[in-house]
Amino acid sequence: MRLSEKLFLRACSGEALDVPPLWLMRQAGRYLPEYREIRATARGFLDFCYTPKLATEATLQPIRRFGFDAAILFSDILVVPDALGQRVSFVEGEGPKLEPIATEADFDALLEHIDLEKLSPVFETIDRVKGLLPRETAFIGFCGAPWTVASYMIAGHGTPDQAPARLFAYRHPELFQRLIDRLVEASLVYLDAQIKAGVEVVQIFDSWAGVLPRDEFLHWCKEPVARMVAAVKKNHPHVKVIAFPRQATSHLTEMAQTCGADVIGLDTSVDVEWAAQNVQNHLPVQGNLDPLVLVAGGEALAKQVRQIKQAFSGKPYIFNLGHGILPQTPIAHVEELVKLVRTKG
Ligand code: CP3
Repeated sequence: MRLSEKLFLRACSGEALDVPPLWLMRQAGRYLPEYREIRATARGFLDFCYTPKLATEATLQPIRRFGFDAAILFSDILVVPDALGQRVSFVEGEGPKLEPIATEADFDALLEHIDLEKLSPVFETIDRVKGLLPRETAFIGFCGAPWTVASYMIAGHGTPDQAPARLFAYRHPELFQRLIDRLVEASLVYLDAQIKAGVEVVQIFDSWAGVLPRDEFLHWCKEPVARMVAAVKKNHPHVKVIAFPRQATSHLTEMAQTCGADVIGLDTSVDVEWAAQNVQNHLPVQGNLDPLVLVAGGEALAKQVRQIKQAFSGKPYIFNLGHGILPQTPIAHVEELVKLVRTKG
């Protein structure tokens, strides 16, 4: 099968399809009983990510069950700080915990270059998955955008508004710039290795892009992501790049015009009619069903799927959620979603 016969890659390349390709952010995870079962066999979440047998199985589970058009590597955006020497752990029920970077000495304690050896299980996972995927299924690799990863590295945990990183960037702009630059370089080396191992598309998750004022958004989100996209494209012109600047609605048109990505991810808050006119007129889009409407199901789900399909049909798009699937999502609702998306019209 030629690569271009994969629906997902065709949409990324700008082809409008009668039925859009479909995958779900965080499609591997706790809403699947088969995931919970294998998750219980690993000590910590990072151990799970670094065990190729388990990570391969987690990547494939949603493909087997739902036949999505793309598989996403099972890993996490925080493996990059981990491979830069920062201590990272995941506490059950509390999310990620990192040794926070508060001073220049903390920054200097990071490795200058990412330890690819530490991430070798991730590349082995990619190699295994690539041999096991159905021929029609595309394979997505990913990393976090520098701003989003830095926000965890500075705070040491998730925060509602990224206040610690925003304050740090205002108070110590030169040091913060060095951190962003370190992450650009490290993430590029990581993406390059993922691509060499076999992923066909990469998504850059900027989950916290939406909290910044315009100048800060341009400096800490858009510029580093544009730099990364340019480098990926230079070394791997055939690889498609999806940028997902979550909740950065007022900058989406500009991102679509200038960040260099092939596809722009839309979060749930974006009006689909507006996005069709102002984002999809420049680039293919991906999104943006509310993860909560998938929990609710029924007529509310059917209505929102219809609205998204109607707004984006006739031009290239990829059907997805506007953020990750929630652990309480019923499997039957995902099955219903697959039917709704794949029914013409
Ligand atoms: O299926 C997939 O999409 C691939 C795997 C994937 C995970 N995390 C697995 C995971 C991907 C693409 C991510 C990205 C990620 N990780 C982001 C960006 C996307 C987003 O959701 O905004 C962020 C911000 C993280 C950091 C992170 N990882 C947090 C905040 C948490 C805790 C919150 C939570 O959902 O539990 C994680 C843990 C995590 N990453 C889990 C999974 C399946 C759950 C932990 C577990 O199963 O024990």
